[in-house]
Amino acid sequence: MIEVLNVSKKYGNFLALQDVTFTINNGELVGYVGLNGAGKTTTIEIIAGVSFPSSGDVIIDGHSITKEKKEASKRVSWVPELPIFEQDAKALDYFIYLAGYYGIEKEEAKKKAEELFSSFGLLGREKDKLKNYSQGMKKRFVLAVSLLSDPNNFIFDEVLNGLDPQGIMFFRDLAIKLKREKKAILFSSHILSEVESIADRVIFIHKGKIIRQMAMDEIRKFFSSNTFRVTLGRVDNNVIKIAEKYGNPTLQGNTIVIENFNGNITGLSSDLSEYNIIEMSRLEGNLEEVFFKLIGDQK
Ligand SMILES: Nc1ncnc2c1ncn2[C@@H]1O[C@H](COP(=O)(O)OP(=O)(O)OP(=O)(O)O)[C@@H](O)[C@H]1O
Ligand SMILES: [Mg+2]
Repeated sequence: MIEVLNVSKKYGNFLALQDVTFTINNGELVGYVGLNGAGKTTTIEIIAGVSFPSSGDVIIDGHSITKEKKEASKRVSWVPELPIFEQDAKALDYFIYLAGYYGIEKEEAKKKAEELFSSFGLLGREKDKLKNYSQGMKKRFVLAVSLLSDPNNFIFDEVLNGLDPQGIMFFRDLAIKLKREKKAILFSSHILSEVESIADRVIFIHKGKIIRQMAMDEIRKFFSSNTFRVTLGRVDNNVIKIAEKYGNPTLQGNTIVIENFNGNITGLSSDLSEYNIIEMSRLEGNLEEVFFKLIGDQK
């Protein structure tokens, strides 16, 4: 379990994080989203223990990152946004070297490498220098490294960046597997459609503040109750007038989108019947819409 408690972070006079508080429970997969510069990486680096909060604390499985850094850090695996490693090192050599940090013997590390390089699609590339890996291969490599120590908590920063569709599918499967193993997982991403398909919950950060946390069910329902779409075979000047009885309509091509829908569906369909209704549906909310609505409300 990861508990972020009232974390603030100042860079000089600039307040990059302000009173950030959230919890990632065991068995929970949580997306962390926000615009560029919102504070995601700053938060993640503080959880990882590589950056120190100006105030507040992070508790990992009961251990404080500020007071018991070693105990806390070993319970969390971090995949950084921009992995930095020995570019001249060969992948397998470097993997074994990093395994040493976790107290894993060379022979065991080799076995782990074989297993992880294979499942991450890097088989046959073990002897390549990391600098000759493609961006996605580097990402796969750091993901493999993050699994070396089998901790209970994972933080992935922009982990989907640079991954091809197969890599993304692999991450999705991995995340689901980790979740089943009751790990606590936080991942930041700008690919909202992926966040939507993987996460159980989303934390929204804007200008260094957590503006909202929502379960995925809540996100899907967010817009679904009051926006209605009707696609018609033909339209004329009258359709908007008719639709105005039912809410706030706008016409997009042959489709009327009625926000704040407050009438009854049977009435609407009979009023529009002469326009040949092709399709009628209540709009399901998606993460992108919710994101822009929440960000828009902040201005
Ligand atoms: N070392 C630093 N010194 C000064 N300012 C910093 C430093 N690191 C980050 N910042 C600032 O803190 C804010 C948050 O940055 P952060 O990297 O956490 O954003 P982010 O949400 O990860 O953005 P992105 O989506 O672009 O990765 C930004 O305004 C950034 O310029
Ligand atoms: Mg970032």
